[in-house]
Amino acid sequence: MNVTEAVTSRRSVRQFLDQPVDKATLERVLESAQHSPSGGNTQPWNAVVVGGEELTRITAAIKEKVATAPVGGNMEYAIYPKDLDGRYEEQRRAVGREMFNSVGLERDDAAGRVAQMAQNWNSFGAPVQLFTYIKKYMGLPQWSDMGMWLQTVMLLLREEGLDSCPQEIWAMYGSYMRELLGISDDYVFFCGMAIGHRDLDAPINNFEVPRIPISDAIEFRGF
Ligand SMILES: Cc1cc2nc3c(=O)[nH]c(=O)nc-3n(C[C@H](O)[C@H](O)[C@H](O)COP(=O)(O)O)c2cc1C
Repeated sequence: MNVTEAVTSRRSVRQFLDQPVDKATLERVLESAQHSPSGGNTQPWNAVVVGGEELTRITAAIKEKVATAPVGGNMEYAIYPKDLDGRYEEQRRAVGREMFNSVGLERDDAAGRVAQMAQNWNSFGAPVQLFTYIKKYMGLPQWSDMGMWLQTVMLLLREEGLDSCPQEIWAMYGSYMRELLGISDDYVFFCGMAIGHRDLDAPINNFEVPRIPISDAIEFRGF
């Protein structure tokens, strides 16, 4: 698999097969991902890789939490800016529309949509979660470094025949997630990432994710 194939075959997978992922593969991916760039080589990312009974424990705990606080609670950062507008807001809505359409959920089917969103807490059936966190005092550049590292992990997973879904929904309960994972409050919980084998036939893994043309985001000058 070359880089272009890894980039274009990656998508956020929201239905995984009931197949395990071995630790050696994950270690290989994470070793290679350490080559990600970061400003000043600070390598500000931190993560806990969770599977087996530990994932069962966390899944049960978060579901209990969600039942008592369905709109979240212990957030440590805003998942979206409150004034998200224009093409950004349109893009956010468009992918949601496509995703719900793919599984036959109408716009007014609030219960169906909530049930689909709740699949996040099951890691969409994936056997592994990668929960990420970063020192509280880190700034925007280090958060960007964390993103580069996450994308590197996702691409390397493709090379291993694996798939992923980054999940910031877990940040709705950020400080609770830190508590569950035993991470001190010197840190901010960033996101989860479900990792496993893609169910190739699942409609939710096959809708087209709209992309804007590069001319809407990027300008060439001097060419
Ligand atoms: C940091 C981050 C957090 C995300 N959180 C979630 C999430 O909680 N649940 C979810 O279903 N998708 C989540 N996504 C997936 C995005 O919706 C997805 O990347 C975007 O729609 C583009 O689609 P693609 O990844 O399939 O190319 C997240 C993506 C990123 C990069």
